[in-house]
Amino acid sequence: MKNILVTGGAGYIGSHTCLSLLNKNYKVFVIDSFINSSQKSMERILEINKNSAINHNKNLSVFEGDITDMKFLKKVFLELENQQIKIDGVIHFAGLKAVSESVYNPLIYWNTNLIGTLNLLEIVKKINCKTFVFSSSATIYADAKDNSRLTESSKINPVNPYGNTKASIERLLRDVSQSSKEKWKFASLRYFNPIGAHPSGLIGENPIGIPNNLFPLIINTAYGIQKELKIFGNNYPTKDGTAVRDFIHVMDLADIHVKVLEFMINSSPINLNLNIGTGLGTSVLDLVKTFERVNNIKVPFSFTDRRIGDNGYVVADNSLCKSKLKIKSFRSIEDMCRDGWKWRKLNPNGYLE
Ligand code: NAD
Ligand code: UFG
Repeated sequence: MKNILVTGGAGYIGSHTCLSLLNKNYKVFVIDSFINSSQKSMERILEINKNSAINHNKNLSVFEGDITDMKFLKKVFLELENQQIKIDGVIHFAGLKAVSESVYNPLIYWNTNLIGTLNLLEIVKKINCKTFVFSSSATIYADAKDNSRLTESSKINPVNPYGNTKASIERLLRDVSQSSKEKWKFASLRYFNPIGAHPSGLIGENPIGIPNNLFPLIINTAYGIQKELKIFGNNYPTKDGTAVRDFIHVMDLADIHVKVLEFMINSSPINLNLNIGTGLGTSVLDLVKTFERVNNIKVPFSFTDRRIGDNGYVVADNSLCKSKLKIKSFRSIEDMCRDGWKWRKLNPNGYLE
């Protein structure tokens, strides 16, 4: 059985990934400060698996603390060492992710995302664990010209502090992998737009604060929390004039992390950058209409001006990911809409009672 350290494992993508790891018989060690999540997501994972033949309780441990705090990290690793637990791989989700907040508070973003990653690299190097998966983002790409799909070699040009931290960490990983004799295996996964939730409705994206992203805002509108959804722009050069994105079901994303780990554990040293999307473009209007149809609920909307800084077309060329990881199919937009709505209907306040 392999031991995997998951930073930010209680968060939206992290919790789904922990579930996928446990189901594949990995032992999971989560580090999370719970700044944007809840211990409840960990309990819910165990609840989902309660009828499994494997004893998942034994396979999931949680350390509460902040990755920018080196003392805390050292304590965690000392404890693992004392228990003779050898970490075989790290999946590093912990970080701050709100684009607009990063514009107002760049220092906090640089500190959490960059210093947190530096600390972690420093410490995993000491314990000789060299397999490291990093949560990057499609936000690092420059505008795609003429509605073409983005490939891993498309131009990198982030336009906000959040994107700058992600692009810089990718560069850091490249430098470390090129310079060291220590034979690291790095994968930076450039997620496109993850939405949806586990089909049980027990885990999902915790709705803390006022959302900025489309899918939680569709849900809030369907719920009546806001009267209507504002669709930013209906004059993009797309089929219906609204912007196009590459939405991916969070469970597909979670399973991809396990596949990446398996690929890396068996590979020679590597620094891999991978686009993680379905390769299918869905317009904002299509997503709203599908959500209405699948869930039999109205999402009132109106059109307004384009949002500053937005691209009209952000879709992955995912051929590298599909061929490396042997992925044949993805869950549908219908699945994403149904599962995302189920989570919210069952948990109107997320993990709060
Ligand atoms: P999330 O906020 O739900 O999860 C992040 C987790 O990290 C949370 O549990 C939070 O409490 C924890 N955390 C934050 N700062 C920490 C710190 N200093 N120390 C310890 N724990 C800390 O976010 P998510 O949507 O699950 O995103 C996970 C990763 O994927 C992030 O790095 C994010 O930037 C990246 N990403 C997300 C998206 C998206 O649309 N959700 C898109 C691209 C990239
Ligand atoms: N949109 C609306 N109305 C809203 C909110 C969003 O029309 O109320 C539109 C946006 O203008 C955009 C599309 O819906 O055209 C998607 O917007 P999101 O904010 O949901 O997602 P983005 O693609 O802009 O960015 C997201 C994350 C980034 C991440 C990126 C990866 O916010 O952190 O996906 O591609 F990096």
